[in-house]
Amino acid sequence: MKILLLGKNGQVGWELQRALAPLGDVIALDRHGLAGLSGDMTQPQAIYNTIMTVKPDVVVNAAAYTAVDLAETEQDQADLVNHQTVKAAAEACQQVNALFVHYSTDYVFDGLGQTSFLETDRIAPLNVYGQTKVQGEQAIIASGCDYLIFRTSWVYAARGKNFLKTMLNLAQQREELSIIDDQVGAPTSAELIADITAQAIPQTAADSMKTGVYHLVASGETSWFGYANYVFEQARVFGLELAVQKVNPIPTMTYPTPATRPHNSRLNNQKLQQTFRLNLPHWQEGVKRILAELLSK
Ligand SMILES: NC(=O)c1ccc[n+]([C@@H]2O[C@H](COP(=O)([O-])OP(=O)(O)OC[C@H]3O[C@@H](n4cnc5c(N)ncnc54)[C@H](OP(=O)(O)O)[C@@H]3O)[C@@H](O)[C@H]2O)c1
Repeated sequence: MKILLLGKNGQVGWELQRALAPLGDVIALDRHGLAGLSGDMTQPQAIYNTIMTVKPDVVVNAAAYTAVDLAETEQDQADLVNHQTVKAAAEACQQVNALFVHYSTDYVFDGLGQTSFLETDRIAPLNVYGQTKVQGEQAIIASGCDYLIFRTSWVYAARGKNFLKTMLNLAQQREELSIIDDQVGAPTSAELIADITAQAIPQTAADSMKTGVYHLVASGETSWFGYANYVFEQARVFGLELAVQKVNPIPTMTYPTPATRPHNSRLNNQKLQQTFRLNLPHWQEGVKRILAELLSK
């Protein structure tokens, strides 16, 4: 199996380099490209040409414009990377009959209610980033290619910038922290996303009925406040000395950001578990593992 991986150095892209390797020949690109192949997601035609040249069996797109607040002012750039180039890539996949694997987000929903969103629930993004991710999804579906769109949330990894690592740093510097307690979701490791992707690809290659949109998140739920407290508790178990003594739960309205965030980021992951006969473990499992990795260095 020949696999073209775009965005190889992101949180998910890095883990995909490892997880996809056993499936076959992986050509992994970052924005700088390689040997005449473009990995620049601001260049739709160049990405289209790259796929037509490589003629892979599978394209996995881990590249994205992920600066949620900046997207409010850099709408064109976000649209180019998350929509226009994704559309070009999907159209090339349709031409060469490649499976297109792509990642999307809980931000496609409006975040209302207390229950977990199903894949079929109404799309209503609250910010520009979410809007561009919706348009990316829709362009893939309209292209007619075989696809897997995995919507995920609250991604963390040992590599890259994320909430878990930020909290770990702050907790070593400050005695008091205030953390949002009215946004609920599931922290999901890039490792889990990559491993599930590697399991789902051969199954979908063998049965194109499995093509579709799936919610790929760890099981269980928490708030950012609950997540941070678990990180601090476990970090102490692993022997890390923390300065933080007091952690205050605060509502979103006391921490305004340029982009509106959904309160409810719960994604129902039953469809993925049933279709692929896979288990999505509780979010605390992955957090514990990454802390062990980070703190044993
Ligand atoms: N992070 C989250 O909490 C979260 C939540 C829900 C969904 N998702 C989705 O999950 C997927 C993976 O996210 P992630 O957390 O791995 O993101 P990430 O760590 O921010 O990685 C994104 C990657 O995209 C690359 N990229 C950005 N602009 C590019 C361009 N113009 N050309 C080529 N590459 C470009 C970046 O390259 P550089 O390293 O060169 O900048 C980076 O390697 C994305 O589709 C994202 O929308 C993420």
